[in-house]
Formats: sequence, structure tokens, C-alpha cells
Amino acid sequence: MNDKTSLRLDTQYVFDGRLGSHKLSEGDLQALTPQVAEILGQIATEREQGGHRFRELPLERPQLAEIKAIVADYRDNTDNMLVLGIGGSALGNIALQTALNASTYNLMPDDQRRGPRLFVLDNVDPVHLESVLALAGRDWSRTMVNVISKSGETAETSAQFLIVRDRLIKALGEQGAKKRIVVTTDAAKGTMRDIVDAEGYRSLVVPDGVGGRFSVLSAVGLLSAAMCGIDIDALLDGAASMDAIVSNPDPATNPAAQLAMIHYLYEQRGKPMHVMMPYSQQLRDLADWYRQLYAESLGKIRPEDGVHVGPTPIKALGATDQHSQVQLYREGPNDKVFTLLEVDAFCCDTVIPRAFDGIEAMQYLGRSDRGTLGQLLNAEKKATELAMLASERPSLTVHFPEVNEHTVGQFLYLYESMIPIMGKLYGIDPYDQPAVELGKKLTFHFMGRAGYEQTPPEIAEKG
Ligand code: PA5
Repeated sequence: MNDKTSLRLDTQYVFDGRLGSHKLSEGDLQALTPQVAEILGQIATEREQGGHRFRELPLERPQLAEIKAIVADYRDNTDNMLVLGIGGSALGNIALQTALNASTYNLMPDDQRRGPRLFVLDNVDPVHLESVLALAGRDWSRTMVNVISKSGETAETSAQFLIVRDRLIKALGEQGAKKRIVVTTDAAKGTMRDIVDAEGYRSLVVPDGVGGRFSVLSAVGLLSAAMCGIDIDALLDGAASMDAIVSNPDPATNPAAQLAMIHYLYEQRGKPMHVMMPYSQQLRDLADWYRQLYAESLGKIRPEDGVHVGPTPIKALGATDQHSQVQLYREGPNDKVFTLLEVDAFCCDTVIPRAFDGIEAMQYLGRSDRGTLGQLLNAEKKATELAMLASERPSLTVHFPEVNEHTVGQFLYLYESMIPIMGKLYGIDPYDQPAVELGKKLTFHFMGRAGYEQTPPEIAEKG
């Protein structure tokens, strides 16, 4: 991770003496290194045996031609694209869109956008849904709907699908509606696959063995990205370049292993709160994506001894949250480790005009040698990490040389690759999510689904 086009990891404020007893030493990492070297070896072997399937996505690129064919068929006749999905079937789509297209993308005139407007409907709030459908409903014939559900059983996505399909049919008729729907789901299993087969919808596949939160670099994340003009080949190239880096068997020079070790060691030493704070509006939703990846993968009951394990991921945004969270971060409990995301070169930067000579509180902002908003944002990042250091709060930085498809692909793959290493350190399976099942069953119960009439035994009163 050290050429000019690659992410760079800076861990100096994890090892700095000013952290006092909150610093890690090289010795701390070295003590964990043999175990992590063994873990990296296990992961490599398991991968050869078909495990960790998400790692193959940027190398094998399943269905890339099909994705591009759908884009070719729909992009010019689509004004609005709706993604119906939730969790891992939505957060990656949002993160790619906000990182790699303008924050005002949906407001741009047709001839300035790189594709349709994109709405990722990852909730079942009726007010939100209706406001988007009111826009899409101006011309359903120019709306494309991508239903994404790996299991094909998710209540939120199924409800959205039923509503949107109904509106499409009312506007375009059965056959017309079918032409505007593309379903991304499991190749063989689940209700959505059955419906696709029965109705003849166009479809893509969530690859076997790839769970929702690891699926952004599959058809799940790539179709909406490509529809909106994002260069998905460059995104996958970036991820593939990170595969070479995180396949390094030496933990000392493998950034996924370094991240895993630092976070694991801090969690074991009373810092279970792991904050990701991008100093970039473009990278804000990568922190949201990270939050799900980390929480659903690592927050588990360890089978070996029944202990509840897992750090708590927190998202923040620089500089915005300096005026909201940093008081807590510096003077509240010293139970956090911070990951700051810094952009070395913004794709455009804004000069702060010099004015009000003689009024220093205004004038300094417009100094010719450092008077841009990008410089101000990065100065605030530097100021915050040093202020936190002064309070013995450890932080590390992931540097983006610039925000583009290559570096975003690298970031997604780096963080995904860290998760199975941490999973093995904690002794848990990072790929399941058993604790979300009870809430799903209770929702079925409250919504009157046949087979769920009884209150689940898990919530029977104890004692
Ligand atoms: O990461 C996961 O597996 C989950 O967050 C799922 O993505 C989420 O529950 C949605 O599931 P599905 O894609 O099956 O509708």
C-alpha cells in the first residue's frame, strides 16, 4: 500500500509515547503475530477449498457481461432507478454512489448526470417510500426497479416489491411492468428466485457463499453503480490490487492483519468502541457500510465458552462531528480507538477568498499558501488527531491519495478482508447472523404470516 495510487495506512498515533498507558508497543503486535500468521495461512487454505468466497469476486468477476448488458439495455431509457433492498443488499450501493458520484447527483439535469437518478430504498417508512414513488410515478415506463435479496425472504424488501410491482402493473400492465424489473437474488434458493422463474423477470445472481454484507463487489453493488456511470472495471481492479496486498502471509506487512491486530488488541484492553471518521463527505457512507460489516460479522456469542464478544463500530464525520462528538471523544470514557479517513488530493478544491484585511479572524482563512477548503478540512483532521493524542486517545489514518473507483475498491476489499482475521481471533463465525432471526420471526408473527401464529419460545417469560 505504498505507491501513489494506493491507500496508505498510518498507525503512528497508535504507538506514540504520548498515549501513555493507552499506547500499543511493537512488542504487543509481535506477541500476537504468530497467531495471526497462522490465521492468514488458514484463510489461504480455506480459500483454496472454496471458503471466503467474497475474496474471489474481483478476480473472477461473475456476471460482469450480464451486468453490462443490462446497463446497455436500460441506461438510455431510464430516468429513475429504484433499488429495493436492505442491509447488505443496500449499504454498499449507497456507499458507492455517494463516494463516486456528486452529492447533488439526483438533482442534476438529465444531460449532466451519468445515468438515471438513484434511490436506494432501504427502509419501509411509508412517507419516504411514497415520496420516491411519486417521483418515479411521473413516468413508470422510464423507471427501472432492481429488487435485491440474497435470501429472497426479507419482509422489508418483499413489501417494497409488492407495492412497486403493483404500481408498475397499474401504469404499464403485466408485461410492461415485467420489462422494468430486474431481480438480484440467489441462483437457486428462496421465494424471490421462485418468483423470478415463475414470472420470467430478468435476473442476476448473488454468488453462492457470498453473504449480503460481503456482496458489494458482486451484481448486488455493481448494477446500480454501472447504471449511474461508475467505472466498475476500475472498482474491481482496485479491489483485485488489494487482494494481492492482503494475501501477504506476513502480518507485519499485511494491512488487513495490521488493522485486525490493532483493533483486537485495543478491544481486549478496554477499548471496545471503534469509531470510523471520514474527513470527506464522499467517504461518509463508507463508514455506514463498515458499521454493518463490523457489527453483524463480529458481534457474536463465542460457541466455545458462551462469551459475548465483538467491538462496537461507530460512524462519525469530520469536520461535522467535531462540533458534536469530539467533546465526548476527548473527555468521555477512554474506551475508543479512532480510524480517520483522509483524502490527500480532493478532485476539486475551493479557494477561500481573502477579504476583511485587518480582521485576522477572517483574513487567515484566505492566505494564499493554505487557503482552500480541502486544506482546512485536512488541517482540522490533523488538529483533531493531535488533540485526541493529547488526551491519550489512539487513532490511525487510512489515506486515500484521491477518491476514485480504484481507491474505493481497495478500501472495500481491505475492510472485508480484515473481518475473517478478526473472526478467528474472537473464535466466532463472521459470516452468520443468528441474532437477527428472532426479530424476523416476531415480525412475521405480528404481521400474521401463516406458520408463525405462536409467540416464539425465546421470548417466553423466564422463572
Ligand atoms: O449481511 C447480511 O447478510 C444482511 O445484512 C442481509 O444483507 C440483509 O438482512 C438483507 O438480506 P437479503 O439480501 O437476504 O434480503
